[in-house]
Amino acid sequence: MNKITLIQPDDWHVHFRDGDILKTVVPETDKNFGKCIVMPNLVPPIINGQMANEYKKRISKFLKNNLNLLMTIYLTENLKKHTLINAYKTKQVFAVKLYPLGATTNSENGIKDVENIIEILSTMEENDIPLLIHGEDTNPEIDIFDREKSFLDKVLTKITQNFPKLRITLEHITTKEAVQFILSSKNVVGSITPHHLASNRNEMLVGGIRPHLYCLPILKRDIHQQELIKIAISGNKKFFLGTDSAPHEIKLKENECGCAGVFNAPYSLQIITQIFDNHNALNKLENFVSINGTKHYKLPNNKKKVSLKKFKNPIKFNDYLGSKIKFKIYKPQFSIFWDYDNK
Ligand code: DOR
Ligand code: ZN
Repeated sequence: MNKITLIQPDDWHVHFRDGDILKTVVPETDKNFGKCIVMPNLVPPIINGQMANEYKKRISKFLKNNLNLLMTIYLTENLKKHTLINAYKTKQVFAVKLYPLGATTNSENGIKDVENIIEILSTMEENDIPLLIHGEDTNPEIDIFDREKSFLDKVLTKITQNFPKLRITLEHITTKEAVQFILSSKNVVGSITPHHLASNRNEMLVGGIRPHLYCLPILKRDIHQQELIKIAISGNKKFFLGTDSAPHEIKLKENECGCAGVFNAPYSLQIITQIFDNHNALNKLENFVSINGTKHYKLPNNKKKVSLKKFKNPIKFNDYLGSKIKFKIYKPQFSIFWDYDNK
């Protein structure tokens, strides 16, 4: 097969940031996707419907297509039930994002102890509000490579036992344990990023340290990467694309203490298509990028179709985006032969 036509894909997890950066990064997602879930980890974080709505307006200025912006609220231990219900019922907010305190970029207002948000989780379950989770145990004694597994064992198991009907997305999964957890649970699905499918920790650390691959949860070893690929290409409806495209300007990445985040919005679809092709699974690509997430979030499939073509020679993609503020664009180590067919 050297051409494929798909229902336009969605990105179920993206960071746009705010201010001047928006004009550079928003068009990349707008070009490639029909719907997206927008992360709320700004400074200060998005903590109510009004803030979400104002942020949505700032993003919308840079849209040329019909990208549907699904906004989220940042879950703090102070979130009031009425604030959430009001934001959700007025459709200012589509889902709630849980960051464990200190887990990642701008998570200083995150959750210290799930015991402190029991009432909110119960309200969410009653109202069928999706919960999006950054699943890492931030206890300093836990090794960074074991943080996801520890979160499953200690926190997520408890949440799913107490709230069996809460619709949960375990975001940007990175381990075989996360895949197993999702497969054996009734109310948890998982999103997977292009970089966790295409890269592993060797690519980040062997032969020199590559700061542009540093993200959280951190890239894991090859056996985990292989499990993620296996489940993604299976077409299983519990797994779908969330790019976690997370731009940080170059000087903040190439730094003594570099920020976590991989900016992958520009070529994520080409990368994913190549991975599915490498595994003879192009027939499952549409499930992973366009159908499974849409179904989980109870939304309609996008009307637009997109076509990709396989070229004879590897595609030469740009390395950087932006002029004054520059971002390094993620590319894996393998060659990519797929690109949009309208070029
Ligand atoms: O690598 C990451 N970057 N992981 C996250 O969870 C947050 C993100 C960011 O906002 O930069
Ligand atoms: Zn993220």
